[in-house]
Amino acid sequence: MSKHILLGISGGIAAYKSCELVRLLKKQGHEVSVAMSRAATEFVSPLTFQALSGNPVLSDTHEGGAGNGMAHINLGRAADVFLIAPASADIIAKIACGIADNLPAVLAAARNCPLAVAPAMNVQMWRNPANQRNIAQLVADGITVFPPESGDLACGESGEGRMAEAAALADLLPDLWTEKSLRGRKVLITAGATFEPIDPVRGITNLSSGTMGAALARACRAAGAQVSLVYGQMQAALPAGLYETVYAPSAAAMYREVMARAAASDVFIAVAAVADYKVKNAAAHKLKKDGGGAPPVIELEENPDILAAAAALPNPPFCVGFAAESRNVLEYARAKRLKKNIPLIAANDVSVAMGGRDTQITLIGEGGETVLPAGGKDRAAAAVAAKIAELLDGR
Ligand code: C5P
Repeated sequence: MSKHILLGISGGIAAYKSCELVRLLKKQGHEVSVAMSRAATEFVSPLTFQALSGNPVLSDTHEGGAGNGMAHINLGRAADVFLIAPASADIIAKIACGIADNLPAVLAAARNCPLAVAPAMNVQMWRNPANQRNIAQLVADGITVFPPESGDLACGESGEGRMAEAAALADLLPDLWTEKSLRGRKVLITAGATFEPIDPVRGITNLSSGTMGAALARACRAAGAQVSLVYGQMQAALPAGLYETVYAPSAAAMYREVMARAAASDVFIAVAAVADYKVKNAAAHKLKKDGGGAPPVIELEENPDILAAAAALPNPPFCVGFAAESRNVLEYARAKRLKKNIPLIAANDVSVAMGGRDTQITLIGEGGETVLPAGGKDRAAAAVAAKIAELLDGR
């Protein structure tokens, strides 16, 4: 869903990361307007943000703006969300006290949309009791704080204080406008492809990129769920802000990690493309072709069905499967739902979905079928999460 994002830049070297943030938000389809403090313009030129956002940039050095000269009010009114990144210790203190003596601080004071801040500062400034008091005040006032990360700081010291990466901020921002339909729910998700070793360096895997599983993890997190992601081979980036991410490369490892969590979860969404078979006689050492003998014989044995096992628990989570088929998509998916004894399955055509950015899902449940519009996996994931929330609420 495309939104109008107001990005406030306060004075700090992390302002350079906000250039990338603007690019990522634009790539997600959002409209971005940038407002800078005078100090921020010392670090990055307003022209840079104007070129990246495609919108005029207002700053303290550019008072009033066009029209009625009320840019400090108008900019905020057009926005769905206001993010200040980087947020210096100074602007955090101003916002905590309601001081409005630079443009981003005025916009914060005059806002009527959700506000988030991404602090960036020296580790001692971050830990300073006054700053911690101000951060607690922001949280108490309903402002979202994207905490800084630990690492090397521009001042040469190291510790907490680095602004969250642009990719993480772009990933987390949609949480601010997403309805919290899964608040308080624990959601367990498998994603990606499994890898069944043949020897220490080779194995059997598949083309699943993990994109849909990652999109679902993001959608459930945005809807307020506590998300645990158990993943195998992933080309997609792991989403930010999850409760836990657990690497489980083989079907056996994925089975173990899922079964350790399934009973305590409210929802289990099995998106991983799990190998049907594993190698029974996996070699302890790398197989060699020299010697001129017959090629090695790979013996297969069936893997456990993780989804069916979770669904067979005495008090199972609400189980959701994915059926990726290359033909008879709906027919096979309906049969799979009944066989695995799960309340909901998402059917999609493997030739469109696997490894790609887009998908077309039909949700098949006990109560009927819903054809979701074709399009990006993020949008499809949001629709699946909303359907799960609706079905859970109706139970
Ligand atoms: O049986 P099939 O592999 O076609 O079913 C696909 C669904 O079952 C997916 O949701 C997949 O994550 C899950 N599955 C599983 N464990 C397996 C095989 C499939 O959880 N061993």
